[in-house]
Amino acid sequence: MRTTVGIIGAGPAGLLLARLLHNAGIDSVVLESRDRSYVEHRQRAGILEQGTVDVLRAAGAGERMDREGLRHDGIELRFAKQRHRVDFPGLTGGRSVMVYAQTEVCKDLIALQLKEGGPLLFEAEALEVEGAESGRPRVRFRHEGREDVLECEYVVGCDGFWGVARKAFPAGLSRVFERTYPYAWLGILADVAPSHDELVYARHDRGFALLSMRSPSVSRLYLQVPAGTDAEAWRDEEIWDELERRFETDDDWRLERGPITQKSVTPMRSYVHEPMRHGRLFLAGDAAHIVPPTGAKGLNLAVGDVVTLARALAHEKETGSPELLETYSTTCLRRIWQAERFSYDMTTLLHTSPEDTPFDARLQLARLGRIASFRAAETDLAEAYTGFPLDV
Ligand code: APR
Ligand code: PHB
Repeated sequence: MRTTVGIIGAGPAGLLLARLLHNAGIDSVVLESRDRSYVEHRQRAGILEQGTVDVLRAAGAGERMDREGLRHDGIELRFAKQRHRVDFPGLTGGRSVMVYAQTEVCKDLIALQLKEGGPLLFEAEALEVEGAESGRPRVRFRHEGREDVLECEYVVGCDGFWGVARKAFPAGLSRVFERTYPYAWLGILADVAPSHDELVYARHDRGFALLSMRSPSVSRLYLQVPAGTDAEAWRDEEIWDELERRFETDDDWRLERGPITQKSVTPMRSYVHEPMRHGRLFLAGDAAHIVPPTGAKGLNLAVGDVVTLARALAHEKETGSPELLETYSTTCLRRIWQAERFSYDMTTLLHTSPEDTPFDARLQLARLGRIASFRAAETDLAEAYTGFPLDV
């Protein structure tokens, strides 16, 4: 098999890259180790920055998003039983975000790719990337019980944190920056209307809680739990009781309960692999960086990477100049480190750690108080939450 751009992984990064390349007249093949249903149903975050919404629309993938997505003009911060709304358009000159689940973004992009795009092979596992420094990189992969080779001009590892593409970087080139957290998120989906019409980020001495949603009738809620927690160790009623405690207010707000249809635990990690390019091999999305989910930046960062890369590849095709491909890594990393900083700040602002002292708790409340009462601090949060500009 032969193509211009070999893409490993059909998460949002790989799927959107294939679509952007298709629109630019560049052919690609996508290899995905899992089956279609797995990719379409894996629960992930669901907040699209304004820039992500614009990119999906311009790529021709925004039709259902515009029909079913929910525009959100703010979030609520909840601490010390108080509620503080952060008004995005008012603070950012009109920006907002869209609640539209990553599963739905993936379904839309898969349908488009199968209808109009190049080959997208499910249950095709990349085994190794070879010859990244040569003019002809290759991906060895296994599909339908056979080993095969995909010959490419460029290979892009969109294969997530556990993928194989990163392993093709020489040890002397790779630098990893990493932090793990002593907590995780227990996430549930519940068949009940969201108890608030915007997301609620709650800081509580017992730990963080988040109220989010998938639709007007499906709630998505998270509880901070110790790292390594087994989701099955929590009974449904215990989850609701704990959520209720952490969301408690001093007014008459109430958390509505409903049947829990899905339960899982997400670990929390910050991770950056530098650089994101080695010869003709590029990394994009979770393959190169992970943020803790508190700022909802993971999917949006992946979109930023592939937009930058698609433009660089189109530029090379049109002008013959590899200039933008050569600056791909530094261009992306500027934005990535801003998202790492924001995600870390949001995480440490709202979670409790086993080694925290009462002093740390007071500091968190002071930081939240400053956001709630000092417009510049609130604006800083709103700007970062609604999205960093795409530096392309
Ligand atoms: N061969 C083929 N496919 C692979 C391989 C492999 N060896 N290893 C991993 N994959 C596939 C995974 O099955 C997955 O479908 O690569 C895909 C990676 O997708 P994601 O993990 O979703 O990563 P990405 O596309 O970068 O999306 C960015 O945003 O909300 C965040 O972390 C969340 O997934 C999200 C991310
Ligand atoms: C989600 O809806 O899954 C979600 C929303 C906001 C976050 C993280 C996850 O910060």
